[in-house]
Amino acid sequence: MSTIRPFTERIKRHYGSNDYIENENQNWVSIIQQLKPAKPLYILFPQLITQNARAFAQAFPGKALYAVKTNPDPNAIKAIMAGGIKNFDVASLEEIRLVHSMCPQAEMHFMHPIKTPEDIRSAYFDYGIRHFVLDHEDELYKIMRETDLAQDLHLTVRIACPKNDSALIDFSSKFGANREDAIMLLQHCRSVSKTLGISFHVGTQTEQSARYAMAIHYSAAIIRESGINVDSINIGGGYPVAYQGDKNIPTHKDCIDSALQALKEEQLEDLNLLAEPGRALVANGAKLVTRVELRKDDMLYINDGVYGGLFDAAKWVDTLFPTTAISCDRPFDGDTTPYRLSGPTCDSLDMMNGPFTLPSDIDMGDWIVFDNVGAYSQAIRGNFNGFGHADVICI
Ligand SMILES: Cc1ncc(COP(=O)(O)O)c(C=O)c1O
Repeated sequence: MSTIRPFTERIKRHYGSNDYIENENQNWVSIIQQLKPAKPLYILFPQLITQNARAFAQAFPGKALYAVKTNPDPNAIKAIMAGGIKNFDVASLEEIRLVHSMCPQAEMHFMHPIKTPEDIRSAYFDYGIRHFVLDHEDELYKIMRETDLAQDLHLTVRIACPKNDSALIDFSSKFGANREDAIMLLQHCRSVSKTLGISFHVGTQTEQSARYAMAIHYSAAIIRESGINVDSINIGGGYPVAYQGDKNIPTHKDCIDSALQALKEEQLEDLNLLAEPGRALVANGAKLVTRVELRKDDMLYINDGVYGGLFDAAKWVDTLFPTTAISCDRPFDGDTTPYRLSGPTCDSLDMMNGPFTLPSDIDMGDWIVFDNVGAYSQAIRGNFNGFGHADVICI
């Protein structure tokens, strides 16, 4: 992926050589009409990301860590920091290096439950990271060994939540200790950890705010059974996005309030509170412009797909991103048709069933703009079949 700098002469003529398009009145439709992008193009809106971060920080009475994996674009990270979220949930050394290069004083929490020994050592000794998560005894030994039995660790035990059908992807089937193991881990960690936390992730795009309360009650039961004093609770990510503007989707504030109420009921309000929001902070911060390369009846073959920036639109995730069509040369006649979309690779899995409602007379050369693709799009895209390239501009 490249930013606007290596982009064509035409772009330089319109926008100068900066990464940012400085004219705030530029409207994205006219940008597309002028640029006529032949490759997938992200249009980032950092101000929206900043607004989201600010709103989350205001609603959350604890320390919010931005989950860098969601969108590691430096423009997104800068926008998050501008909104007042200046601490980070990192999952790899690559993410650690990125955050450190942008903000050396940032507090980073290494929240991948299964880390390589080399990454733990480098995180601790090269980057000063003291916060580590774990969900298994062997990971605890690994952390102790690779930090040379450090005395200044802040360890967090990640628990698996009961199955959550209201999430787009349940996050407790792969990571998280079960009840008995979590109790044992809390007991083992206490003596080697300066402060001790418990964390969970209810599942990404969780559409029932009550899931946060349920996870708090479950955590409280584990804490009680362990007989251990815990210093912090991390309520993770999962805050949903109203992709189609649906008013029934809870806001991040609904989810936070649900967690806070449960903490009160459990008399755990005194614990230090953390969260790791991702999707909700960045989703509406980007649009993805794609081009129709061929049409066969109700199937549009476009130049980006599930191995690129549209993983979440694949049939196994099925996010229905809002779409807008932009004509390359004539007005559309006004009728619409439901379409399936096909990505550019030769793989039959590279298809998005939608259905996406678009002009009946859309055809090759026209553009389809996907809205709300700021989360898990740039972050996930690969280069399968050589179709990975996308340009990025910031408004
Ligand atoms: C440990 C952890 N925290 C936070 C997040 C962000 O979750 P979301 O984007 O659902 O808010 C993730 C996503 O994978 C995660 O794995």
